[in-house]
Amino acid sequence: MRTVITGGCGFLGRLIAERLIGRGDDVVLFDIAEPLNGLGDISDKVEIRLGDITNYEIVKNLISGADAVVHLASMVSAGSEADFDAAMRVNLDGGRNVLESSRANGPATRVLFTSSLAIFGSDRMPMHVDEMTRPVPQNTYGMTKAVIELLLNDMSRKGFVDGRIARLPTIIVRPGKPNTAASSFASGVIREPLMGDECCYPVPLDMTLMVGGYRACADALVVLLDAPADAFGDDRVVNLPNITVSVAQMMEATRTVAARHGIELGPIVEAPDANVQKIVGAWPTSMDASRALALGCPQPADLDDIIEDFISDYVH
Ligand SMILES: NC(=O)c1ccc[n+]([C@@H]2O[C@H](COP(=O)([O-])OP(=O)(O)OC[C@H]3O[C@@H](n4cnc5c(N)ncnc54)[C@H](O)[C@@H]3O)[C@@H](O)[C@H]2O)c1
Repeated sequence: MRTVITGGCGFLGRLIAERLIGRGDDVVLFDIAEPLNGLGDISDKVEIRLGDITNYEIVKNLISGADAVVHLASMVSAGSEADFDAAMRVNLDGGRNVLESSRANGPATRVLFTSSLAIFGSDRMPMHVDEMTRPVPQNTYGMTKAVIELLLNDMSRKGFVDGRIARLPTIIVRPGKPNTAASSFASGVIREPLMGDECCYPVPLDMTLMVGGYRACADALVVLLDAPADAFGDDRVVNLPNITVSVAQMMEATRTVAARHGIELGPIVEAPDANVQKIVGAWPTSMDASRALALGCPQPADLDDIIEDFISDYVH
């Protein structure tokens, strides 16, 4: 099985690659750049191809001969909001390049696309969303995700490709540096204190978020990649399992788990950011994931377990 992961050198790409390599798949990581501090243990077990997802010829050549494509390459929420035209190029044109290249590769090509809770929004949105809740994104990033969802669903209906779409909650805990996602602080309030660094949080402590742990997320994405096409019927969209937590609960869980390990935490400082509050505040705080669970995706981990995993995997 040869699987191409676009955006493969990022946070989730590396986790999915580890799982696919572990079972003997050939994995190609495609990205605009290699990570500054390398790919660690997996670097000699994957093929790395560098290039820009916006270049159709490069993407077509990349996907030719693949059995499956995991399409992760994307600009994220705050970055997309700051530069509409770049988000259109990378997320929409780049996404279309991946789907058309997969179509050219043949109808059996599996394409797993990671969408986001950011497709939801509007004051009229119900508190609890499911796969049938209408997407009314309140940011450009969410709009681009919703468009690619529709396109991949239709290209699957037409028999051009075998698509699957995972809608992710905010995934914690991202290692390394913060990215330009508006929800980046959700990892930051755990990661920075555990690393002894200062953490600035931009939203009120009682703001609630829908989050999922990185291990369960990567496992779930592999389950969806492997599921038979007929498990999805005429709707390829699946909401991933998630938990709803407040910022204060994330801080409290970090203190509890850090104390177990004798870790002295770095300082936490309030630094309100109206832009972040507006983007994140428009997102739903809970999402039905019964479809994902029925397909075999793992139950969401609780906060303590996610933080324990992070310490075990990344805090040395
Ligand atoms: N991590 C989350 O919390 C979360 C939540 C919802 C959805 N998602 C989606 O899941 C996917 C993966 O998320 P992640 O956290 O691993 O993101 P990430 O930012 O860590 O990785 C994305 C990768 O895409 C690459 N990339 C960006 N522009 C590119 C281009 N023009 N050409 C080629 N590569 C390019 C980046 O270099 C990066 O390595 C993204 O599509 C993201 O929108 C993630």
